[in-house]
Amino acid sequence: MKTIKIAPSILSADFRRLADDIRRVEDAGADLIHIDIMDAHFVPNLSMGPGIVESIRNVTRLHFDVHLMMDNPQRFLRQFREAGADGLTVHLEIFPDPEEALDEIGALGLTRGLSLNPDMPVRRLSGRLTKVDRLLVMCVYPGFGGQAFIPESLTRIREARDLLDAEGRAQAELEVDGGVNVKNAAAIREAGADLLVGGTAVFGAPSAGEAIRLLRGC
Ligand code: DX5
Ligand code: ZN
Repeated sequence: MKTIKIAPSILSADFRRLADDIRRVEDAGADLIHIDIMDAHFVPNLSMGPGIVESIRNVTRLHFDVHLMMDNPQRFLRQFREAGADGLTVHLEIFPDPEEALDEIGALGLTRGLSLNPDMPVRRLSGRLTKVDRLLVMCVYPGFGGQAFIPESLTRIREARDLLDAEGRAQAELEVDGGVNVKNAAAIREAGADLLVGGTAVFGAPSAGEAIRLLRGC
C-alpha cells in the first residue's frame, strides 16, 4: 500500500505563533508544509508573500509546497525559490498552456505543480501533463480555509488519477486541497490521492498528531 503524505496548510495556523505551529505539526508527523499565496485578484482574498516564506524557512526542513493562487505568478517564481520554496504550483486557469511556466519552475530546480479549480474540466489536462510533477485538484473554490468539500470532487480526483496513469505520469503526485477532513479522507485516498492538504483539519484539531494519522489512514 502506498504511503499517503500530509501537508498542513498554514493558512489555518495561528499567525501570532506561526513558528511554533509549524514545529508542532512537524513533530506531529507532517510530511510537507502547504503555503497558500493569494493576491486578491485570482482569488477574493489576500494572504502571504515571499517575505513570510523566507521568515519561516529556518523553522523546519520540511518541503515547502507553495500554492500560487495569483495572477501573473511568473513574476514571482524566482523570489519564492529564493525565499525557500521547494515546490511551486500554478493554476491551469492562469496558464491554459502551462508548459512554459512549468519549465521555468523546473529550471529553478523546484517541483513543478499544476492546479485546477472545481469548475475546470479534468480532460483539459489531457496532453499537458508531461512536465507536471504534482497535480493539485482543488475541492473548494480557492480563497479561504474551512470551506466544505464539494462532493463531486471525488469523481474529479478519480479522473485525474486515471489521466495521470493513462498519460504515463503515474509517478507524478496527486494532491488534493480544500475541505479535506478526517471523515472524507478515506474516500479521497481511495479515489487515488497521494498527498492531502489539511488546513482546518490539522490546525483546528485538538491533536494534530491524531488528525494527521487519521488523514493518512494509518
Ligand atoms: C484554499 C487553499 C487551501 C486551504 C485549505 O483556497 O488553497 O489550501 O488552506 O484549507 P482547509 O483544509 O481548511 O479547507
Ligand atoms: Zn492551497
